Amino acid sequence: MAKLNILRYPDERLYTRAKPIQQVDDSIRQLAADMAETMYAAPGIGLAATQVDRHIQLLLIDISEAQNDLHVLINPKLIGSTGEVEREEGCLSVPGIYDKVTRAERVRVRALDLNGKSFELNAEGLLAVCVQHEMDHLLGKVFVQYLSTLKQNRIRTKLKKRLRETM
Ligand code: NI
Repeated sequence: MAKLNILRYPDERLYTRAKPIQQVDDSIRQLAADMAETMYAAPGIGLAATQVDRHIQLLLIDISEAQNDLHVLINPKLIGSTGEVEREEGCLSVPGIYDKVTRAERVRVRALDLNGKSFELNAEGLLAVCVQHEMDHLLGKVFVQYLSTLKQNRIRTKLKKRLRETM
């Protein structure tokens, strides 16, 4: 396994739309394993392939404290959503920034697993928010894009400044 480099907002590559995965093979399983290692080490509760500069529809989520409840979703499709909830979000691609985003309270998603088998996931609470956040990444969308232009500009300035300081 290998830890992967996570793209940082406002890196343009985060705006790429991910393509569907045609075949779930060993290369996909290897990428998922590397992404899991990367997510757990960060530590984070979700990671989309987009964030490691692989523009295919693969995302991982584990909201458990013990890091032992990994969900892998390939080619996820939203098939239902209800309610509305506002929750503070963060993102491994936007380190140190947290803000409130409104999303559906419950979602139903259909996806493929690592064996290429179709399954459905009913999510609510934090898991539902996380699923929507990661699916956005696959569409080339970062959560800060839900915030006001003023806030987005501030975040960009802050992160660019921090990047300069660490180089
Ligand atoms: Ni994110």
